[in-house]
Amino acid sequence: MQRKWWHDKVAYQIYPKSFMDSNGDGIGDLRGIISKLDYLQELGVDIIWLSPIYQSPFVDQGYDISDYYKIAEEFGSMEEFDELLEETKRRGMYVLMDLVVNHCSDQHEWFRKALADPDGEYADYFYFVKGKDGKAPSNYRSYFGGSAWEPVPGTDMYYLHMFAKEQPDLNWENPKLRKEIYRMINWWLEKGLAGFRIDAIINVKKDTAFPSFEPDGPDGLATCVKMVEEVDGVGEILEDMKKNTFEKYDAFTVAEVFNMKEDELREFVGENGHFSTMFDFSAQTLTEGEHGWYDSRPLVFREWRDIIFASQKEMEGIGFKANIIENHDEPRGASRFLPEYAQNEEGKKTIAVTSTLLRGIPFIYQGQEIGMENCRRNSISEYNDISTIDQYQEALRAGCTEEEALEYCYKYSRDNARTPMQWNDDVNGGFTKGRPWLAMNPDYTRINVEEQEKREDSVLSCYKKVIALRKAPEYREAFTYGRFLPDYEDHDYIFAYHRKIEGTDQDILIAANYGKESDTITLQEGTEGTVRKVLLSTSGREEEISGEMAGENAVTLGSCEAVVILL
Ligand code: GLC
Ligand code: CA
Repeated sequence: MQRKWWHDKVAYQIYPKSFMDSNGDGIGDLRGIISKLDYLQELGVDIIWLSPIYQSPFVDQGYDISDYYKIAEEFGSMEEFDELLEETKRRGMYVLMDLVVNHCSDQHEWFRKALADPDGEYADYFYFVKGKDGKAPSNYRSYFGGSAWEPVPGTDMYYLHMFAKEQPDLNWENPKLRKEIYRMINWWLEKGLAGFRIDAIINVKKDTAFPSFEPDGPDGLATCVKMVEEVDGVGEILEDMKKNTFEKYDAFTVAEVFNMKEDELREFVGENGHFSTMFDFSAQTLTEGEHGWYDSRPLVFREWRDIIFASQKEMEGIGFKANIIENHDEPRGASRFLPEYAQNEEGKKTIAVTSTLLRGIPFIYQGQEIGMENCRRNSISEYNDISTIDQYQEALRAGCTEEEALEYCYKYSRDNARTPMQWNDDVNGGFTKGRPWLAMNPDYTRINVEEQEKREDSVLSCYKKVIALRKAPEYREAFTYGRFLPDYEDHDYIFAYHRKIEGTDQDILIAANYGKESDTITLQEGTEGTVRKVLLSTSGREEEISGEMAGENAVTLGSCEAVVILL
């Protein structure tokens, strides 16, 4: 495998609106991010992904861009952005921006021009399609609920929006549109960006016949995902984009891809794939309901472990996935994946170790490193997120009570991950001197950076240790290129795997117990003369475990305890 500059890096996602506010308007900003670069460096982060910071009406929190060449006023200026690039470069760090090109904002100049002249050149930047019998061209339900078609005023046409109606889809069949997008991407890369996180990209390919599908809900609509799954040819677009942009800059790209065809993995993220990597969402989609949050299934430990393992094995010989436990669209990983008895620092440290050392590129989401948790709200009016409001209504329509519907929001809302970063236990967690745009999770008095920085045994300290271990010169090779070999799969609550370089004797075992009770794993007979070494223990029991191994050739792990052993 050809080595790439990003293979051994650790990435961190910043949700700018909620990271750090420097001027007291309650909204995080670029200056705030700059002020925290030392913090990120100390954590061991190499690559920073910024969720959208472009000019936007923020209907979908910046994923609706009205000018791709401007920084949103709320976040600062282009000068400040350049300063951020400079400051990251000085620290040997890289910056990724979010690339949102499946759609733009209805306030974008292109869309305004299209509406002003629905038969003109700019209408062809979008999907303006004639309705059928006075109705929308097809029965697609958008990702955020309701029809994916909106009438074009004064015409018999509709425009397509797979997300909110304020996010019209761009027409990638139009060579002019492609050229405009490529010019924009290259403009940012020329500025010194290391690459992009690529939003919702599978959706760029449409079946322009827009066939209707069998309705799959009481609204008589069919999810627009169906069209995405049925249509072929997305690869042509993705390859064209890569050739005209990323490839020329050796840029790093990480794609958000759901609903890819199974046999396309190599084409997407193989050695010469469309992207450098893509997120592994297998654990996030595992318990997904058929209709919405209200019919999600509970998480079963074994299923969770097995699906992560399957995804790891699938990538062998192909490339790397980007590993996450959460992001700005998902609930907090600690709240979602840890059993109730493990929703504490021990559980959070355990998940830190087992996820960070997987094969692939770890992406840590802001606040994950201190174990931030989901946030309970008392009423739907306290939520901001567009999809939460839709899912709440969806639950009510399905017959849930308001309490039940709110409980689903507590479990799954995207706002869970969007509450502001908790820096200390001062007013508003040190995030802002003003009023935060989205109310803080009140647990900031207990869970915050400042408190955890003081403690060796905190979640934050654990992330620092495990990242440092991953990057330590002696082990970097194994943690980057070593194979992923699962072990102890017959134990009910053990999550264990080796990272091993073939042809060398370096074999590192990562073993964790997610159970309520302790469990003992027997180690394979060591080669004579080799001395095993405990590289990390989430409970600070390095010495004790060393002794245990020497005597018994076994290790007993307590409830929610992880250990990393050089065998
Ligand atoms: C992606 C983003 C999400 C956004 C959607 C539409 O899924 O991560 O936040 O709402 O695309 O752009
Ligand atoms: Ca601000």
